[in-house]
Amino acid sequence: MYQKDEAPSFDNVPRHIAIIMDGNGRWASKRLLPRTMGHREGMKAIKRVVKACSEIKVKALTLYAFSTENWRRPKNEVNYLMDLLIEFLNRELQELHENNIKINVWGDYHSLPPKCVDEIERARHLTQHNEAMVFNLAINYGSRTEIVRGVKRWGQDVLDGRANIDDLDEHMFSSYLYTHDIPDPDLLIRTAGEFRLSNFLLWQVAYTELWITDVTWPEFTREHLFQAISDYSKRDRRFGGLNSPKREGKNVKSKNI
Ligand code: IPE
Ligand code: IPE
Ligand code: MG
Repeated sequence: MYQKDEAPSFDNVPRHIAIIMDGNGRWASKRLLPRTMGHREGMKAIKRVVKACSEIKVKALTLYAFSTENWRRPKNEVNYLMDLLIEFLNRELQELHENNIKINVWGDYHSLPPKCVDEIERARHLTQHNEAMVFNLAINYGSRTEIVRGVKRWGQDVLDGRANIDDLDEHMFSSYLYTHDIPDPDLLIRTAGEFRLSNFLLWQVAYTELWITDVTWPEFTREHLFQAISDYSKRDRRFGGLNSPKREGKNVKSKNI
């Protein structure tokens, strides 16, 4: 484990880290607290992780905050999550901006309550020219919806004469997704131990390295993040090819915590 407050230097920092922040409810239930308290505690983990990623110069961080399926939850929990989002942006915006972090939102945020839309637009507008790191929040995001949206936009471009069916390839299709201007995630972290993607970035994670921990999101610290990156940097990403020569015979295994 990495020591507290130590920001290690990695040879191989992932350019883009995506995180499925899960286990807020379980964190709270275990402590006999309402689930909403788990979400509140999870907000502190968001702050820790954004700060750590910015320190080690990750270029893009994407956090899955609310899925298209999360509307199935009780109304009071959904409302609480929306209020928390506003509170987070309100409280952290200035500091994120001072750290040259650009805030982006993936997902149909226009159908959120108007106060959320206003806060999101304020954050996007203020930070639009920042360059140190892109911080993407996936809110009311679902990967299948994203893909269908991309297909519709491409179809419209064909109808309007801006695109040709014969020119469509993987690269061009990617340009119709939220990730159009950043690389696919190098590392996907999921907390709270589930081995599934829950409709997150299905197209983009084709060759992403996965790192799953039983630690719940409110408990997730910068040390866990650094462990994930350290494990990631030992993996051999073959992309369907063969081992890179320097790794031949090494068979480096990742450790999970
Ligand atoms: C993740 O924690 C936060 C959101 C999905 C918004 P959960 O609320 O899913 O926590 P568990 O999985 O019920 O423990
Ligand atoms: C995934 O967590 C969505 C977010 C982290 C926002 P869920 O808790 O909704 O996932 P499932 O229902 O366990 O697959
Ligand atoms: Mg969950």
